[in-house]
Amino acid sequence: MATSTDSPETTHATDSIESHQKEDRRFPPSPTFAGRARVGSHAEYTAMYKTSIEEPEVFWREETEDLVFRTPWKNFSSWELPKARFFEGATLNVTESCLDRHLGSGTRNKAAIVFEGEPGDVRTLTYFELHREVVKMAAILLDLGVKSGDRVAIYMGMVPEAAVAMLACARIGAVHSVVFGGFSAEALRDRINDCGATLVITQDGAWRRGSILPLKQIADAALAQTPQVKHALVVQRIGKTGDTTAHGKPFSCPMTTGRDVFWEDAAKTPSTASLQLARNPHAFDAEHPLFILYTSGSTGKPKGVLHTTAGYLAGAHVTTKYVFDLQEQDLYFCTADIGWVTGHSYIVYGPLSNGASMLMYEGAPNFPEQDRLWDIVERHGVTILYTAPTAIRSFIRWGDDWPNKHDLSSLRLLGSVGEPINPEAWTWYHRVIGGGRCPIVDTWWQTETGSIMATTLPGACYSKPGSCGLPFFGVDLAVVKDHGEPCAPGEGGKLVIKRPWPSMARTLWNDEARYASAYWTVMPDVYFTGDGARMDQDGYLWVVGRIDDVLNVSGHRIGTAEIESALVSHPSVAEAAAVGRPDDLKGQALVVFVTLKGGHAGSPEMKKAITEHIDKEIGKFARPDAIRFTDALPKTRSGKIMRRLLKEVAAGAKAPQGDTSTLEDLSVLAKLSSDEE
Ligand code: PRX
Repeated sequence: MATSTDSPETTHATDSIESHQKEDRRFPPSPTFAGRARVGSHAEYTAMYKTSIEEPEVFWREETEDLVFRTPWKNFSSWELPKARFFEGATLNVTESCLDRHLGSGTRNKAAIVFEGEPGDVRTLTYFELHREVVKMAAILLDLGVKSGDRVAIYMGMVPEAAVAMLACARIGAVHSVVFGGFSAEALRDRINDCGATLVITQDGAWRRGSILPLKQIADAALAQTPQVKHALVVQRIGKTGDTTAHGKPFSCPMTTGRDVFWEDAAKTPSTASLQLARNPHAFDAEHPLFILYTSGSTGKPKGVLHTTAGYLAGAHVTTKYVFDLQEQDLYFCTADIGWVTGHSYIVYGPLSNGASMLMYEGAPNFPEQDRLWDIVERHGVTILYTAPTAIRSFIRWGDDWPNKHDLSSLRLLGSVGEPINPEAWTWYHRVIGGGRCPIVDTWWQTETGSIMATTLPGACYSKPGSCGLPFFGVDLAVVKDHGEPCAPGEGGKLVIKRPWPSMARTLWNDEARYASAYWTVMPDVYFTGDGARMDQDGYLWVVGRIDDVLNVSGHRIGTAEIESALVSHPSVAEAAAVGRPDDLKGQALVVFVTLKGGHAGSPEMKKAITEHIDKEIGKFARPDAIRFTDALPKTRSGKIMRRLLKEVAAGAKAPQGDTSTLEDLSVLAKLSSDEE
């Protein structure tokens, strides 16, 4: 059985590959769980999957019946790849499915968002209240001149207003682009300018590990170089908690007159006409753009992944319902940040379109202590927890005593997303957090896929630790060799999706050509995921990791080229190469090799300066784990940096294996391998 592909980029937590190779345990759902589940047997899953592939119109007609279409769709899909359209002829307003449709039922007064701030403040918004807030913010956006099709950047932390902001944009047909609050001013500026946002929604500050992250001040630095932005709408989060110090210094939220507006002030006086339109919003075409979300690819420039209205909603809706087996009494808690796709699909659109109650937590999982999440689960009675392997590995490191102090018996289902989960972390999650009774859904998907593509439906399929299971409904997955021939069971290859699906990205903003070349040229009319994988004899998928120049560091997708272009923009850096190294906690750690310009020495001060430069250019989450100075980088005779060798050196190899015949100067390699970090 092969676990690696032909590419050098397939690494993750050190124990994973070995234990994956040995892993053959099966964990079926308990009869009690299966008995109550939406899909309660493997036969039922198989029958539904068959319909979804053979008669997609029938499947999607039935599964989208509870969504609100103003004009029903006439044709399920048509494509001339890479262009594809779904639910043709339909018009809809996504927020009617997420909000309005619940107001006429018992869901009206049910909690939509149970928010817990890091300082401990708790606030609940019912569906009625969330709808009211969204209508108000939509009216304010209209008053500030935002029109359908305009782009709005959202730079916020994890507060209910972030969801309100996204939905308010969708309500009026504006295209939101959420930028993760950990990005720096420079990264925010580039994203705002790339999508041409004319308005930014931000907040004064966000609580993080007892400190205040001054989001508005960071946004201000970005807004100094975004001429097209007319307004910033600012939510007062810190103002509300009443604390005015950050890091012991007075905290301020400077406002620029004429440009900046406090949400709390604006919300008092929306115009009647805007309120009227926000209450009775327009419907938009099924393919109207819903959001742009930037993610990393294999060049230095982030990709603005564009999702559209009906297909995305349908994907998020149906996957949330089945993968999390949502039931009326559930309290669902997804620990992702709203700045990533998981936050979009599985904090906002999917749970709300299903009328679920969700818990949203603002801060760090280890603040004030390492049992914060378990305390939240116990106090609120969380029933479904969706988190990432990197977080699970931290919990393991912090010790069993933290979860064991708490009553976690409310949990009935656990989820994992973002990177391969090593079987050791899986079994710990299952035993210590799930008490041995909760199924685990390991969900494989991407920013580009919009919704979960592979997992084990929790009441229907057994799981195998480390495998993300079987294709979701409508998803035609395959693992193939370089030229598209299918791999044998167990053989490593490229993970592809053989036909379009409703929630797939439609294009990359401003870069149609890159969309076509990045995803659709490996095989004709087949979507290439960028991942290496194998499929075992039971049809279970084992994703090994990226096989392009993208790293997965603590579940964050980081492009090596992005890091490199940030590094070479430092005045002392001549050349740089970024590679991944297996890391027990982060999955992959980021190691950079740097050559300095003449006259500069590789000192601890220089390391500090380079680290701070990355903080500034991208954000602290992209900080290298190791910086290695070198006189030269190993290159092929044609001048290409030999990353494969650097990866081996980064992983600690003294004498890199494999073909070095194209290496221009072998002495570079010898020197590198003997260098201390
Ligand atoms: O390599 C795969 C990995 O994360 C990549 C997608 O990253 P992003 O677009 O940031 O979306 C993350 C959240 C969906 C994939 O190409 N990945 C995601 N989920 C899994 C995974 N690898 C293995 N198992 C997973 N469950």
